[in-house]
Amino acid sequence: MRLAPSEIESLIAAARAACGNAYAPYSGFSVGAACLTGSGRIFSGANVENASYGLSNCAERSAVFNAIGAGERNIRAIAIYTPTHRPVSPCGACRQVISEFGEAIEIVACAEDGTIRRWTAAELLPERFQL
Ligand code: THU
Repeated sequence: MRLAPSEIESLIAAARAACGNAYAPYSGFSVGAACLTGSGRIFSGANVENASYGLSNCAERSAVFNAIGAGERNIRAIAIYTPTHRPVSPCGACRQVISEFGEAIEIVACAEDGTIRRWTAAELLPERFQL
């Protein structure tokens, strides 16, 4: 079902709040994300970096793993918030992880001034890897 404007607003607010929890001492780049599930619940996450850089986790994957780990399987949308001038689209690894749970998932990226961009998971990652 298409996202209602109020759903997008709540999801972005959750992503923005999660951005405040980012642990990004190495890059200084904070990201927040939030997933809306079919049951209407919102699961958020932030990027969590590590001194061993490659162990860092993106906000989008934190949010998706949070939702799936709580037993949710139906993700309708994910919002990404960055305190940047332009909306930031998810990295390739996160595109693959989001697509695992539905190629029709709506991805909404929001910049600091509220500018948004929207895509579906399939638009950002055509021909995802699948077994
Ligand atoms: N990052 C995300 O959280 N999501 C993305 O889609 C790309 C990058 C994080 C990882 C790292 O903590 C910081 O942004 C800089 O790359």
